[in-house]
Amino acid sequence: MKTAGEQALFCALNSIKDRITDTPDIALVLGSGLGAFANQLEDAYEIPYSQIEGFPVSTVTGHAGKYVIGKIGSKRVIAMQGRVHYYEGYSMEQVVMPIRIIKLLGADTLILTNAAGGISYEFKQGTLMMITDHITSFVPSPLIGANMESLGTRFPDMSQVYDLKLQQILKDSAVRCGIDLKQGTYLQTTGPNYETPAEIRMYRTLGADAVGMSTACEAMIAKHMGMRIAGVSCITNLASGMSEEPLNHEEVKATADRIAKEFEALIREFILSID
Ligand code: HPA
Repeated sequence: MKTAGEQALFCALNSIKDRITDTPDIALVLGSGLGAFANQLEDAYEIPYSQIEGFPVSTVTGHAGKYVIGKIGSKRVIAMQGRVHYYEGYSMEQVVMPIRIIKLLGADTLILTNAAGGISYEFKQGTLMMITDHITSFVPSPLIGANMESLGTRFPDMSQVYDLKLQQILKDSAVRCGIDLKQGTYLQTTGPNYETPAEIRMYRTLGADAVGMSTACEAMIAKHMGMRIAGVSCITNLASGMSEEPLNHEEVKATADRIAKEFEALIREFILSID
């Protein structure tokens, strides 16, 4: 007997399966303001989320809401231009459904990107951070509920979520692009509010280097399915209390726009270098 979540997942999958002509090698989730990378895909075609039965559709500006399928060199890539967030009112299971679909379409490698607030004192506005680990303790696990045995085990190991070999390839790609890629731990909050300075001090004490409202739940669900995962945060602002300025979404988008070229060069080089 399939659970309601499983039925919704396979229904959405069936409604797009026929439209994807070949199996993707690599999946890419493009965060706030970073969606323009999808324009680099060659021979590209799109599937708007609104055309997929039962698919969660984003309500946030800066998130276009479609799969873009195409190629970077010889790599077949499925990119998500826009994602949904828990704070939009979707359940965690719905939030991660697009990642499950990507895996069921055949992609085994997942690159997650996001806009994030910088907690580490080493970071500035515009820093790119490779995610080496994450903290999801402040959001519900997307794996709560009946386990989808066909996808993965009930109690998945999370001791190495972000693949070490991909981390090395990403670091090497950054060197070739002349980018000073930092690294660190990403902490996911529910949002939609930004944090208070006291919360940021707490998160720093807990070992977080960057904070955002997405990504870690997607990494967790991808790890459950045995995918190889890499993550990059674009530090769009210093976290709450670390600068004089109040935080706002416009600033997040403006910084993401400003470093889009650097980000795109890194992701392109990375994809071309993955074996
Ligand atoms: N906090 C949470 N999410 C974010 C931030 C932040 O400072 N910047 C971009 N996304």
